[in-house]
Amino acid sequence: MPDQPIASVAQKSPIQSKHALWAVFGLMALFVLFTRERSLLDPSSFLRQRYAPVPWLMFLHGIPAALALALGVFQFSSRLRQRHLQAHRVMGRIYVASAVIGALVAIVVAIKLPIPSLFMASLIQSGGWLITTGTALYCVRQGKIQQHKEWMMRGYPFAMVFIVNRVILSIPAVQGMGVFGLITVVWSTLALACFLPSSVIAWQALAASNNAGKKAAGAQKTAG
Ligand code: HEM
Repeated sequence: MPDQPIASVAQKSPIQSKHALWAVFGLMALFVLFTRERSLLDPSSFLRQRYAPVPWLMFLHGIPAALALALGVFQFSSRLRQRHLQAHRVMGRIYVASAVIGALVAIVVAIKLPIPSLFMASLIQSGGWLITTGTALYCVRQGKIQQHKEWMMRGYPFAMVFIVNRVILSIPAVQGMGVFGLITVVWSTLALACFLPSSVIAWQALAASNNAGKKAAGAQKTAG
């Protein structure tokens, strides 16, 4: 796998807006862990009863998917990539394997525990995660580091949806909307996961080309 220099972040401020976003997401994940997922440890809880017909499938889905969700955060760290490239590679391989297992088993779970109006959502979420992660892997194998990063940015939100959905669904007003609220939240967050990352990538490229244009114009003025 050819190495390419990765853009230096030395000049950037140590606290960037992406750190604030990760902090908010981390808090949301903790909220979901303590308010909902903790009940998976209690055999008499609603979730354990719901998953009783397919306990091993849920295990095979939940553990790898959770691992991918946790590892994914570190894969976006420029510091880790620059200072510990080997760790980034190893964690990347585990991330890809976990995402593939988690996403494929999710399709079986969605068939076995049917919520008919949400089966297609699960299929699109799994398919989106698999396609984008596969493309990110292909890019890095080709030495295309920038595209690899962009496809990781497109893929990870399919996992983030798990947390975001459960936070929104815990709001009493949304709970009060019943199945309509559930379907609205699931499809809306999935739609955002599909288009928001590409919009962010396009805006970043636009801002970079604007800056380059300004610099070139400034250099021309100075020369003239
Ligand atoms: C492709 C993305 C994903 C799809 C399509 C998917 C699909 C599903 C489905 C259909 C269920 C059963 C819901 C039910 O009927 O009660 C489920 C439950 C679960 N999933 Fe996923 N999931 C995905 C990503 C994730 C991620 C990233 C995690 C990481 C934590 C995760 C962890 C779990 C857990 C722990 C459960 C059982 C507890 C619960 O429902 O809160 N899944 N998932």
